[in-house]
Amino acid sequence: MKIIDTIYDLRVALREERADGRSIGFVPTMGFLHAGHESLMKESLADNDVTVVSIFVNPLQFSEGEDLGSYPVNAQGDQRLCELAGVDYLFTPNIGEMYRSVVATSVSVAGVSMLLEGRSRPTHFTGVATVVAKLFSIVGPCSAYFGAKDWQQVAVVRRMTEDLSLPVAVVDCPIVREVDGLALSSRNIYLSDDERSQAPTLHHALLAGAVLVESGETDPLVVEAAIEGVIASAPLALLDYVAAVQADTLTVDGPLHGDIRLLVAARFGRARLIDNHGCRNVGA
Ligand code: PAJ
Repeated sequence: MKIIDTIYDLRVALREERADGRSIGFVPTMGFLHAGHESLMKESLADNDVTVVSIFVNPLQFSEGEDLGSYPVNAQGDQRLCELAGVDYLFTPNIGEMYRSVVATSVSVAGVSMLLEGRSRPTHFTGVATVVAKLFSIVGPCSAYFGAKDWQQVAVVRRMTEDLSLPVAVVDCPIVREVDGLALSSRNIYLSDDERSQAPTLHHALLAGAVLVESGETDPLVVEAAIEGVIASAPLALLDYVAAVQADTLTVDGPLHGDIRLLVAARFGRARLIDNHGCRNVGA
């Protein structure tokens, strides 16, 4: 595995790979890698000749008061995980390499960025779209792999890629969970023992909502109330939002129908956790 920390060196290396006719798969991350990230790498490795992973904690997507300064880091462990997974290139630019001066250009995806996560974190998805567009430009992948764990992020990246006609296939990969249902996240490290034992409630609440949808409930408010009811059994959860929406638009247009996505965000102490689950209303 080659570890590269400048844009120039990565471009030169990947230009050669492309010239030799190799397809490039890309997995952007912020590091502190776990089995969720690894599952994206595995998909990329299976689909492409060359896999590039980036690790960059992108300040643009953090707001004031969020955990930018304390975001967990494990450079050696991340390197080892990538090496063992069979990654070809690990791109680890520092902040000065990615943003050499004040950044005057940003990519904002209207509409979808302002829903759900966007209400609590209004600048978040502009930060994500800007860095992902920049990374796509540096790497030039055929396909890029994202986790369904961040369902809205995938929707934002997909919309940006379509709107800007970027020649990248955006692939979403299933959520990887702990055995008790908690979605793997770099931020789970912030949880105390008590918080950790209550955190799987988010997943259980979404499953309860899905049972309702699949048994024919079409009123989003009823489904959301049922999910909230389960989360209320975890006293350490401070709920941010619960949403039962159409999976493609992340909005409701009347009774729930077809592919539905149930999404939740809640704080457990220092950790702000998000989770989601897909289900289908077959009756409507
Ligand atoms: P990060 O949180 O490091 O996540 C990198 C990728 O791993 C994202 O696509 C995320 O959805 C995926 N992922 C995280 N946990 C997962 C899980 N439990 N199962 C499956 N996939 C999982 O998301 C970001 O970084 C950043 O916003 C980034 C896209 C890198 C832009 O800075």
